[in-house]
Amino acid sequence: MLFIFASILSLIISGVVAQNLTITINGTASHPIPTTMYGWMWEDINHNTPQASRRVEMVVCTRNVRNSYYTERQWSKLFRAVLQNRAFQQVTPKTSAALYAWSSFGATTLTVVDKSVTPSLSTALPNSLQVQVAPNASGQIGVSNSGYFGINVNPAWTYTGSFYYKVPAGTKAKGQFLAALRSSSGAVLASKSITLNPSATSWTQVTFNFKPIATPADNNNVFTLTVDGASTAGQTIFFSMFSLFPPTFKNRPNGMRIDLAEALQATKPGFFRFPGGNNLGQSIAGRWNWRNTVGPLINRPGRLGDWTYINTDGLGLKEYLDFLEDVGMPSIMAIWAGYSFGGTVPENQMAQYIQEASDQINFVIGDPAKSAAAALRASLGHPAPYPLVAVEVGNEDFFASDTYSAYRWPDIVGNLSAQFPSVQFMATTNVGSPVLKPKPKLYDVHVYQTPTWFAQNSFIYDSFPRDGTKYFEVGLDPTNGEFAAISTNPNDLFGAPSDGRLLWPTVAGTVGEAAFMTGLERNADIVFAASYAPLLQHINGDQWTPDLISFDAKNVYKSTSYYMQQMFSLNKGDEYLPSTLPSKTGTVFWSVTRRIATKEVLIKISNTGSASSSLTFKLPFNTVSKTGSATVLSGAQNASNTPTAPNTVVPKSSSFTAAKTFTYNVPGFSVHVLSVVAS
Ligand SMILES: *[C@@H]1O[C@H](CO)[C@@H](O)[C@H](O)[C@H]1NC(C)=O
Ligand SMILES: *[C@@H]1O[C@H](CO)[C@@H](O)[C@H](O)[C@H]1NC(C)=O
Ligand SMILES: *[C@@H]1O[C@H](CO)[C@@H](O)[C@H](O)[C@H]1NC(C)=O
Ligand SMILES: *[C@@H]1O[C@H](CO)[C@@H](O)[C@H](O)[C@H]1NC(C)=O
Ligand SMILES: *[C@@H]1O[C@H](CO)[C@@H](O)[C@H](O)[C@H]1NC(C)=O
Repeated sequence: MLFIFASILSLIISGVVAQNLTITINGTASHPIPTTMYGWMWEDINHNTPQASRRVEMVVCTRNVRNSYYTERQWSKLFRAVLQNRAFQQVTPKTSAALYAWSSFGATTLTVVDKSVTPSLSTALPNSLQVQVAPNASGQIGVSNSGYFGINVNPAWTYTGSFYYKVPAGTKAKGQFLAALRSSSGAVLASKSITLNPSATSWTQVTFNFKPIATPADNNNVFTLTVDGASTAGQTIFFSMFSLFPPTFKNRPNGMRIDLAEALQATKPGFFRFPGGNNLGQSIAGRWNWRNTVGPLINRPGRLGDWTYINTDGLGLKEYLDFLEDVGMPSIMAIWAGYSFGGTVPENQMAQYIQEASDQINFVIGDPAKSAAAALRASLGHPAPYPLVAVEVGNEDFFASDTYSAYRWPDIVGNLSAQFPSVQFMATTNVGSPVLKPKPKLYDVHVYQTPTWFAQNSFIYDSFPRDGTKYFEVGLDPTNGEFAAISTNPNDLFGAPSDGRLLWPTVAGTVGEAAFMTGLERNADIVFAASYAPLLQHINGDQWTPDLISFDAKNVYKSTSYYMQQMFSLNKGDEYLPSTLPSKTGTVFWSVTRRIATKEVLIKISNTGSASSSLTFKLPFNTVSKTGSATVLSGAQNASNTPTAPNTVVPKSSSFTAAKTFTYNVPGFSVHVLSVVAS
């Protein structure tokens, strides 16, 4: 199938001996490069359960912090909301843990109470925050929220906030609320006054906005909501569902953090896999149920995710789909497939979950005239269907492959493919084992390995049968679409970060991944999508390392692997041009594609060894531009971009002399994309 030219200098090189190779390119394309070739996935944040040692694709994870750290913590994916634990979802009332991220500001006593104390805002949000003001209170008193590891206060931004409150009948409380951002020393950085209505005896929503008047020294800032202590002394005020957002990506309500969204968009991703991943569900009751994630925020109960922290579900199905549309990436959407670590649904109870999945797919692509779920989508402002590449049936079902093959896969795909003939369904067990009926057209394969493994296995898909099955490569074993080099030591692969795991992607890992990806392009007739994982890491709260993009409350740090992924994604080309094959045991790997509209030949090269290599390319075209452009990522073997040195290794552009035959030098530990216009 592929064109095997004799490797003219198939030297098996070790050490620092230069490797000089001649690479002949065939001008006749063997296969197209799918538009979905490179994309992203995330699930959520991380956990401290025994499953921590499994190879899961956590996205934002907690380094060096163990045991129950995340219990009761509430996460809002991508840390787009400013306030943490904003609606006291899924917490146990009257516990101190229920107050996670909240504290008294001055003379107040805070208690999370249930509806036995006061009727709740909604059925989905059964808890409220009770604030009791001390009888002798004076000055500004109230509540304070620490945000997600601090709050970025940017004077250029207008922040939009809201909260619900009510007071008992006959209250003596009066005066003004002061919603504010404050520095750690209490200095007011932004504020807005709102009149407290003493007759607000039922839930009353207040919305406000403010713009900071000062630039703080750091991110150790808090949100406070206060009142004058003297005019509320001895009184009680109840609160529910706070919200505070900076400007969001494309100004979407409940939208994404702009800098992180832009970092993703800058790679022109071909797809986005959501909502997990393992975050699909730790228990049957706690599964990701799309219905609980759409509509008004006060109707979203939140859920305990796989990793024992609480998801707010403020980023629900509609927010996901709008985000994907704004970035321009179609979805690979997972449905819950009747399996959680906490249990498997028996076949005779599968019908309701198949219906739930059917409704979820209809929400995304259905006809509002024919489906209530699609009509709901239309009522939420999006009558047109959203793009959908594939539906993934579960996640990592090799953990429960017996029930997957016995009835979960056949029943789900049997029913849903009849309802959605145009939708492709993707299996998540090991390829071909067990045998699934109907035979999957798509498989999701997960890989987490050492840099060396990636380089040595760039030929892994060459031997896969061409039988109509296609693969989504997510980062280890060829049977399993995630890939990421996570340690230099094979024994550390599934261990804790402290025992040898890389903290940040390194150049050695990045060149290994790039070598592997040249193999994915060569096999893009069967590999239709690939994603690095995990994608995002909050540097103050991570467990799984390394991650592609790191961030804190204010900054985004792009790793060497991020830049490499971007180089590949922006230059994936439209079709693959066969060329002399790299040596399987060599250290230099390449792939050649063509961008049809611009007549560019795009040559990607990864040198995974320390020796430089001189490559002579022979192009089968009559006219070749005299100058080519190169994008090069090159650095010391173990170099990383870190928060203290974020730009240690960044891509550099250069030009080189091109011709029908040209020689190009590739230093050790480097990745290159060459572009030559030729016809
Ligand atoms: C490789 O090519 C360079 C010049 O491009 C030359 O100096 C060197 O001797 C060659 N090495 C081998 C092993 O042929
Ligand atoms: C280039 O590929 C085409 C088919 O795709 C093949 O017919 C031809 O022989 C190849 N050229 C060389 C020089 O191998
Ligand atoms: C308010 O009363 C409490 C309890 O009696 C006491 O500890 C506190 O010092 C008093 N505060 C002020 C400002 O008088
Ligand atoms: C649909 O699912 C049910 C289980 O809920 C199963 O019994 C039935 O065989 C499935 N139908 C098809 C066509 O696969
Ligand atoms: C990089 O790290 C690996 C693994 O720890 C080590 O073997 C190698 O010597 C290091 N390279 C350099 C240049 O320090």
